[in-house]
Amino acid sequence: MAIRKFRMPDIIEIHPLIRRAIIERDNHNYTREQIDSSASYYTAERFCEDLEHKIIYVSTDNEKITGTATLRNDEIMACFILPEYQGKGLGREFVGALERDAVLKGFSNVWLVAVLSAVEFYEKLGYHKTGEKMHNDWGKGIIMGKYIRKD
Ligand SMILES: CC(C)(COP(=O)(O)OP(=O)(O)OC[C@H]1O[C@@H](n2cnc3c(N)ncnc32)[C@H](O)[C@@H]1OP(=O)(O)O)[C@@H](O)C(=O)NCCC(=O)NCCS
Repeated sequence: MAIRKFRMPDIIEIHPLIRRAIIERDNHNYTREQIDSSASYYTAERFCEDLEHKIIYVSTDNEKITGTATLRNDEIMACFILPEYQGKGLGREFVGALERDAVLKGFSNVWLVAVLSAVEFYEKLGYHKTGEKMHNDWGKGIIMGKYIRKD
């Protein structure tokens, strides 16, 4: 399994991948409407919005896209891995790559909004809770941050 930068033709596989990652995750703190709304959010247009400020990675297994993660300025977002590829270190690899990119861009900190079931994952990678965000359509998220400068 390898990670590489996103290329435009990957977009065909991205929306269904994100839908599955959201629908099949542990959603027990969220309503059916909130889950559906999150799963429908990342259309091709939304995913590709503001591309000049984003660094996007995908993971591949042969030619198949198995996961993705994005850095937009100093925010890590849209980190999604197909259920059958979770727990194999891809999430850690994506976040590490994005943190290195953020350092190269001159940022000292990165932040993200985690769904409740992903908070422990980010804590394992050194992120700390800094607040909460109640999204009108998606429900509760936890704002988390990490100091990334190595010097
Ligand atoms: C959350 C997610 C990105 C993690 O990616 P992953 O590739 O499965 O995680 P990794 O294999 O890199 O795991 C790294 C460590 O975190 C742990 N971990 C992974 N997911 C976890 C979770 N949901 N809760 C607690 N620990 C978790 C792993 O056990 C591993 O721990 P270890 O180093 O002690 O062995 C992935 O499971 C996913 O796509 N989930 C569904 C979509 C989602 O919720 N995305 C996050 C939106 S904020």
